[in-house]
Amino acid sequence: MREGINEVIATTAMNAAPVGVIARAGTLQAALYLTSHTAELVERDRWLVANLTHDPVLYVQTAFSDPAPEAFLQFTAGGISMCRLADAEAWAAFSVEVVRKAGATLLVNLIPIAEEICDLQVYPVNRGFSSVIEATVHATRYCVTRDPWLKQLIDHHHAIVRRCGGPRELEAMDLLTREISSRLSGQ
Ligand SMILES: Cc1cc2nc3c(=O)[nH]c(=O)nc-3n(C[C@H](O)[C@H](O)[C@H](O)COP(=O)(O)O)c2cc1C
Repeated sequence: MREGINEVIATTAMNAAPVGVIARAGTLQAALYLTSHTAELVERDRWLVANLTHDPVLYVQTAFSDPAPEAFLQFTAGGISMCRLADAEAWAAFSVEVVRKAGATLLVNLIPIAEEICDLQVYPVNRGFSSVIEATVHATRYCVTRDPWLKQLIDHHHAIVRRCGGPRELEAMDLLTREISSRLSGQ
């Protein structure tokens, strides 16, 4: 993890969701919405795995639903049975200390236990990839609040993905568009 907020895909017990790991002044923390399964499972089991990937489709998929069971790999670290994404390019396993429940969030400290780099590749900066991540953040809120400003931001990022993204970014945006419309129509 590097200083700042690291947008990872967090796995908890057979659950996956994008989460920001906040690295500041030597500490690692996560602020989890209490309405999420991730917060519920982290509070219950006290572990979390941060999965690193450059696959934009995985960010969209896991923001709205959980991958199939075969997408997870079980392992043991620090005597704790955990799971990670089978396709993660790298992962870091943490035990969890609850700091506080404040308002709508659960703030936790993440204590590193184990980590692995599985697949080392170099990725040129791609604005399409970044825009998929931005659009997905806005979409998770838009589906709850239906704030028209968020829809404008999603459309703005969609235009960047069309201009700068590759096939995987375009597939991710198509999936995002389908997820938004099925949620807005209540399906
Ligand atoms: C890039 C990105 C970062 C996110 N960061 C967080 C976060 O730090 N904390 C959080 O509670 N939700 C975060 N979310 C929203 C959750 O991923 C989303 O609410 C998800 O549906 C939770 O799934 P779950 O119920 O399976 O835990 C983020 C979403 C995206 C796309």
